Amino acid sequence: MKQKVVEFISSYIEELTNEDIEKLLEIPPKPEMGDFAFPCFRLAKIYRKAPQMIAEDLKNQMEQAEFLSKIENNGGYLNFFVDKEQFAKEIIKQSSVPNFGGSTEGEGQTICIDYSSPNVAKNFHVGHLRTTIIGNSLYKIFSKLGYHVERINHLGDWGTQFGKLIVAYKKWGNKEEIERDGVEALMKIYVKFHEEAEKDESLNDEARAWFAKMEQGNEEALSIWQWFKDISLVEYKRTYKLLNMEFDSYNGESFYRDKTGAVVEELKEKNLLVESEGAYIVPLDEYNMAPCLITKKDGSSIYATRDLAAVLYRKKTYNFSKCIYVTGLEQKLHFAQFFKVIDLMGYDWADQLVHVPYGLVSLEGGKLSTRNGNVIYAEDILRESIDKIREIIEEKNPNLPDKDEVAHKVGIGAIIFNDLYNQRIKDVIFNWDKILNFDGETGPYVQYTYARAASVLRKAGIDQVGEDIDYSVITDDASMNLLKEISRYPEVVKDASEKMEPFIISRFAMSVAQAFNKFYHECQINVEDETIKMARLKIVVLTKTILKDALSLLGIDCPEQM
Ligand code: ARG
Repeated sequence: MKQKVVEFISSYIEELTNEDIEKLLEIPPKPEMGDFAFPCFRLAKIYRKAPQMIAEDLKNQMEQAEFLSKIENNGGYLNFFVDKEQFAKEIIKQSSVPNFGGSTEGEGQTICIDYSSPNVAKNFHVGHLRTTIIGNSLYKIFSKLGYHVERINHLGDWGTQFGKLIVAYKKWGNKEEIERDGVEALMKIYVKFHEEAEKDESLNDEARAWFAKMEQGNEEALSIWQWFKDISLVEYKRTYKLLNMEFDSYNGESFYRDKTGAVVEELKEKNLLVESEGAYIVPLDEYNMAPCLITKKDGSSIYATRDLAAVLYRKKTYNFSKCIYVTGLEQKLHFAQFFKVIDLMGYDWADQLVHVPYGLVSLEGGKLSTRNGNVIYAEDILRESIDKIREIIEEKNPNLPDKDEVAHKVGIGAIIFNDLYNQRIKDVIFNWDKILNFDGETGPYVQYTYARAASVLRKAGIDQVGEDIDYSVITDDASMNLLKEISRYPEVVKDASEKMEPFIISRFAMSVAQAFNKFYHECQINVEDETIKMARLKIVVLTKTILKDALSLLGIDCPEQM
C-alpha cells in the first residue's frame, strides 16, 4: 500500500524521486488523519510557495485513485485515506503467499554463526543458555531470508585448565563418581585443585606439564581429556534436546590445535608479532586497545590464537559473507582485538566479522533451584519451567490431551520468549511469576492466542480459506488493525536480521496476538452469515500461520491446544 501511495504521489511531483517521497511519507498519529501523510514543506523551496498552498494545489490536481477513499489538505500535509476494502484485499493477498515475511536476499550466501560454545568440564549455565537461544533465533531469521547458515558450536575444549583437571583426577578423582555425576563431579575436583594449589605451588607446574603433553599428542593425556569431553557433551546435548536445537559443527577450540602454528608463522611473516617478556603479542595501542596475546612464555597458544585459526579455517571452508559470534558483553575486547588482527593481516573480509553481545541474567524474587555449590544449570531451569507449566495445566485444564508435550512446548517457550523480549544487551530478569503468566507479555500468552485461533478453526471445521471473500465486511477497526499488524511482517524480519535483534520478532508476535484477541472479542466469528464468517475465518487462518511462523523464528513451538 505504501508503495502504491508513493507511486501515486510521484506521478504528480517530478522534482522528487520515489525514494525521497518514501522517506518523507509518514504514518499519522491519529486514524482521523488518514493512513499516510505527505508533508509539503520541502516542496516550498522548489515551488516558491507556502506549503499549505502546495498541498491544496496537489489535492485539486489529484484525481482519486481506486485504492484511495479520500485526500485531505491538513496544514501543509496531504492526508491520504486508503480505501479500506481495497486495503484489506491487498494485505490478505500479500500475506497469503508461501514464506510470507521471508525473501531470497540471501540466496547463494553463507553465514556462520558461532554460538552456545560451552566450556568442557564446566556446567552449562544460564549465560550459555542466552547465547544458545539468541544464536538459534538468528539462524532461523537468516534462513528465512534465504541464507545458508552454518551453526557452529565452538566448544571450549582446549587450554591449560585441562592440565589441571588431569592432575586433579589422578590425585583425587574417582572414576565411578565421574561416570555417575558427570560435569558436577569434574567441577568438584577442579575446585579441589585450586584449593590445593594455594598450598602447594608445584601442582601448577604439574598441570602445565600435562597440558604440554596434551599439545604434544601424548596418548594418556588425550584419552583422559577425551573422556572429560564425552561426559560433558552428553550433558550439553541433553540441554539442546530439551530446547529442540541442533548444530552443524562441534569443532571447538581443540579442532584448531594443529592450525595455530601456521597462524603464528603468518603473523611473523607479516611483521605483526612482537616479543614481550618471552611471550608474543600483536600491539594494538595505535587502535586504543591492549595488545592481542598470541603465545605465552611457554610457547602455548591461547583462546585468541585459536579464534584466529578458526576464522581462517571457516573462511576457507564456508566462504562466509558474515561470521557472527554470540557471546556475553564481557568478551567485547577480545573480539575487537582479534578482528583487528585479521584486518592487520590484510584480509579485506575483516569487516564481515560481527560480535553480537548480550547482557547478564539476573534473578528477581523467587529462588531458582540450584545444585550443590549454587551453580545454576540451564537444564534445571528448563525442567523447572516445564514442571511448573505441567502443574498449571493440571489445575486449569486436567483433561487436555498430550499434557506432557504441551507442558514441554510452553515451558520452554516461556523461557525463550522472556530471553528474547528485550534488546540483547539488556539484562534478563528472571521472575517465575512474570515469565509464566498466561495474561502477561509472555510466551504462554502468544502460544495461548495461537491455540485459540486453532480452536476457532477446529470448531468451524476448516483449515484453509481461499481468497474469494467479500472484503467489504472486514473494514471494522479491530479487523483492519489486525491486518495492518500482519502486513508489517516482511519489514520486521528484515529489520531483525539487520540489527541481529530477535526482540523485534517477539514484540511483533506480541502485537499480532494482542490485535487478534481484540478482534476475537469484538468480532464474532462463527456467525450464521456465511459471507461474514468466511471473511473472518480468513483472518483467523492468516493470524494462526503468522504466529506460528514468528514464534518459530524465536525457536518456540506452538501446541494446537492448550
Ligand atoms: N567458550 C567461550 C565461553 O564460554 C565462548 C566461545 C565463543 N566463541 C568464540 N569463537 N570465541 O565464554
